[in-house]
Amino acid sequence: MKSLPFMDSINQLENATWLDPAAKSIRKVVKNVIRQRDLRDLLHGVPFGHPLHPVMVQIPIGAWTSASILDLVSGTQKASAVLIGTGITAVLPAVASGLVDWSKSEPGPQRTGLVHAGVNVVATSLYAISLIQRCTGREKAGKIFSLAGMAAVSTGGFIGGHLAYRQGASISRVIDIPNNVPSGWHQVATLDSLEEGKLTGGTIGETPLVLFRRYGTVRALAATCSHLGGPLNEGKLIDDGDPCVECPWHQSVFSLRTGEVIHGPATAPQPHFETRIVEGQVEARLRPAHS
Ligand code: FES
Repeated sequence: MKSLPFMDSINQLENATWLDPAAKSIRKVVKNVIRQRDLRDLLHGVPFGHPLHPVMVQIPIGAWTSASILDLVSGTQKASAVLIGTGITAVLPAVASGLVDWSKSEPGPQRTGLVHAGVNVVATSLYAISLIQRCTGREKAGKIFSLAGMAAVSTGGFIGGHLAYRQGASISRVIDIPNNVPSGWHQVATLDSLEEGKLTGGTIGETPLVLFRRYGTVRALAATCSHLGGPLNEGKLIDDGDPCVECPWHQSVFSLRTGEVIHGPATAPQPHFETRIVEGQVEARLRPAHS
């Protein structure tokens, strides 16, 4: 089946470099306004293991869609107005979670994301006007602005889907690792080649690892950051008792012991490996998820 003509315009958004100055300014505002790291982690969705934004948009979209359906039924004006107001109120957490994710995305998805956000600002404004119209007794105008808002929010959702599924903006970059690493033990380094208390790189086949040796124990994680694929073997060691690695690209922090995300923007844990020393050789095998 041929794709629809407007898909060309959607595909080209990621190359719209003229959006870059605006993106730079907005990134700066996001960084200055949402400073607290625990809050950023929560908005990224670190405690939930996947991004929070897709969950938070359910409330405004659901409320506004319900209002449009009620608009077809007589005697439901008040209920429609309440739903529109609920949707507008719920926009704030949806925007905050989207913005923190967006501020840590790659340039192409960032351009598309800016258009996605802009269209949703238009949608929210149309719903706000609709609510004002309804509250001042102009019911018909309120319904028309709601319909325009629904068209805008649907367009925004479509671009958001493109961002997530075509551009993979929030897709974990480590989902293939369990398929790419053969089961069983694999030699990854000699023990002598690993400097005590330092991060070192290794590989199992094509899969890069980050290794950390301390007190005769070796920790091993996949070195491709689950956020956007940054090289953890070039990351920074953070060692305050439970050693962690910080990604050099957007500073996600992972436990070297368990692969758990300590700080986002990553939300998916790093695949981690069991290790053993056999005749001076370090061997590793992939730990099953959740062990
Ligand atoms: S690639 Fe973004 S934090 Fe690692």
